[in-house]
Amino acid sequence: MTPRIFISRDAGALALGAADVESAIIAAERRRGLSLEIVRTGSRGLYWLEPMIEVATSAGRIAYGPVRAEDVEALFDAGLLEGGPHALRLGRPEEIPFLKRQTRLTFARCGIVDRLSPDDYRAHGGFRGLERAIALGPAGIIEEVVSSGLRGRGGAGFPTGIKWRTVAQAAAPQKYIVCNADEGDSGTFADRMIMEGDPFVLIEGMAIAAIAVGATKGYVYIRSEYPHAIEILGRAIDIARRGNYLGARLFGSPYAFDIAIRVGAGAYVCGEETAMLDSLEGRRGVVRAKPPLPAHKGLFGQPTVINNVISLASVPVILAEGAAAYRDLGLGRSRGTMPIQLAGNLRHRGLFEAAFGLTLGQIVDDIGQGTASGRPVRAVQVGGPLGAYFPRAFFDTPFDYEAFTARNGLIGHGGVVVFDDTVDMARQARFTMEFCAIESCGKCTPCRIGSVRGVEVIDRIVKGERRDENLALLTELCDTMKFGSLCALGGFVPYPVLSALTHFPEDFGAARPRGAAAA
Ligand SMILES: Cc1cc2nc3c(=O)[nH]c(=O)nc-3n(C[C@H](O)[C@H](O)[C@H](O)COP(=O)(O)O)c2cc1C
Ligand code: SF4
Repeated sequence: MTPRIFISRDAGALALGAADVESAIIAAERRRGLSLEIVRTGSRGLYWLEPMIEVATSAGRIAYGPVRAEDVEALFDAGLLEGGPHALRLGRPEEIPFLKRQTRLTFARCGIVDRLSPDDYRAHGGFRGLERAIALGPAGIIEEVVSSGLRGRGGAGFPTGIKWRTVAQAAAPQKYIVCNADEGDSGTFADRMIMEGDPFVLIEGMAIAAIAVGATKGYVYIRSEYPHAIEILGRAIDIARRGNYLGARLFGSPYAFDIAIRVGAGAYVCGEETAMLDSLEGRRGVVRAKPPLPAHKGLFGQPTVINNVISLASVPVILAEGAAAYRDLGLGRSRGTMPIQLAGNLRHRGLFEAAFGLTLGQIVDDIGQGTASGRPVRAVQVGGPLGAYFPRAFFDTPFDYEAFTARNGLIGHGGVVVFDDTVDMARQARFTMEFCAIESCGKCTPCRIGSVRGVEVIDRIVKGERRDENLALLTELCDTMKFGSLCALGGFVPYPVLSALTHFPEDFGAARPRGAAAA
């Protein structure tokens, strides 16, 4: 049998030299007169071990990493093709604790399959969800998705099945599925990883959504900073069309559905669903007032489902395994699994898919293994640039929508960004205001003007100018932004700003000694 080597071609692995490793493997193959099969996969999501390669052996797949091009000859000398011993040998990937502890449902195939092979996809459980969806029909699909408890993974956590039901009930000549792949949150990469590593699962999820609501056309809005995802998903869509997984009669069923990719130009606000609709229609992305909801009047004025990549990519497994299998995982109203993205100053950065309910402390100290710098963790920002900064005193917070909300935080798209004790929280607060000023769509005054004034007020506080007066002004300004902004960009700025001020007042010139963060 031809020896098979699996190599991650994920953008993260490529940034760390995966293409050079692949070239070195091909050169070694020629030099040694071997005949290898190289399978291009996505990433398993253990980024500190990338570029990671795996070899198929009689004892299963054996992983090596992080591999550099100059390691390749020595790996072959050590018996790479038989899984031979070497300092970079990691053993069976499923046994690596970071992977072993996960519950991989949405990311079950990522890093395992040949990402552009529908046959491999099917061999690993793909398209079972779509087949069941076709058998169930629209009402049955919606029932399953509602019953699974799936909530939008883009940030707002709105129940996906309810959104689909609203669009299904709207009468219109044309309906759309729009997939939000703008992924603007700091420290997040789950959408990118799945589009690069298992693109058919997104195509399958969108097709199921289309059947459920009666849509025949879908768009994926991907940020321009994701060239690899744009390429891989584009190729997967072409392959799906040729294989009848997209097109006039999906899988030979009466349903028709096709997908086109649109590339965003790089505005954070274009991830907000109505600004994204403007952008998709060819205009500058400006937030629209609601109502009307996109579910009633969305793209080109027609009823539209807008869902995040991970929401849609989670649907095939729900249909394939049944709603109960998904709903049985999780905590409270947060059902199923969440791909937690570990980023910032952490030793083990990567993607960890787990049922809701792990505590923030488990995620940071245990799974992430503390800071890469070796210094104490001081703050953790969860949920992107608009998420609150949590001090160590909040490490008992379970990863769950409601638990984070109860502590004036949010889990958003699942990004966890860790800072050590060298972070200056007043600078972070200033950055939030500055970010908002740069990214504001400009439609409403609290956000457009408030963010600029916010930067100025924080500067005055840090300089010690009329401190109490300016602190009161900052709190009042945050209040105005929170309750007066049209969308969550301006409306959520107060969370990072006020959490920094509340938990780390010493960085704003207060007397409390540094490190004694408030509970
Ligand atoms: C400023 C701003 C940026 C956003 N960026 C994204 C994004 O990059 N990706 C995303 O899926 N949702 C983003 N959202 C949330 C979307 O508006 C919307 O709730 C989501 O796409 C709905 O999909 P879901 O229900 O599957 O989460 C953003 C919201 C705001 C206010
Ligand atoms: S809050 Fe900011 S981004 Fe949102 S509508 Fe208002 S100006 Fe635009």
